[in-house]
Amino acid sequence: MDSITVRDKEFVPYLTEAQIQQRIAELAAELEVDYAGKNPLFIGVLNGSFMFVADLMKNLSIDCEIAFIRLSSYTGMESTGSVKQVLGLQDNVFGRHIVLLEDIVDSGLTMEQTLVFFEERGPKSIEISTLLFKPESLEKDLSLKYVGFEIPEKFVVGYGLDYDGHGRNLKDIYQLKEA
Ligand code: IMP
Repeated sequence: MDSITVRDKEFVPYLTEAQIQQRIAELAAELEVDYAGKNPLFIGVLNGSFMFVADLMKNLSIDCEIAFIRLSSYTGMESTGSVKQVLGLQDNVFGRHIVLLEDIVDSGLTMEQTLVFFEERGPKSIEISTLLFKPESLEKDLSLKYVGFEIPEKFVVGYGLDYDGHGRNLKDIYQLKEA
């Protein structure tokens, strides 16, 4: 694998397609054991999770359902912080086993807000699966049950993850090159 340029930044190879697929197969095997007979509802958080969700689902043979949500952020008038709104959920969450599927957990703010939204709707259980996790950046008290890779606090792109809207289509994951 060669270094690549996305927009104005250079990125170096970090995780190959084969490594990603291998780890996703392992995560799917865990989920199959934990959710057999429970008809879980998997919820992918768009946009970044689309490749992860697709590949994970292709490795699952248990009975399950899949939905996607999107988060819109808006800034409150008196606040500089952003509050995320969950958009696009049409399925009933009450009494269901929910697994949230995310591409990356960085500070954990996005997942914390998403979790609150779902917990208010009375699921039977709720867990998080994220392909990538940056433990050094985590600011929230989140329990991440199914983690693909723990990675350092460096910006990554590819396999659904973008830099300024670009790079999502790459099969492999690349890391920002040190200046
Ligand atoms: P958090 O709320 O800080 O956990 O950030 C989560 C969101 O930030 C992810 O869903 C991504 O959209 C984005 N993000 C965080 N780190 C990266 C990265 O290294 N590359 C691309 N997007 C990232």
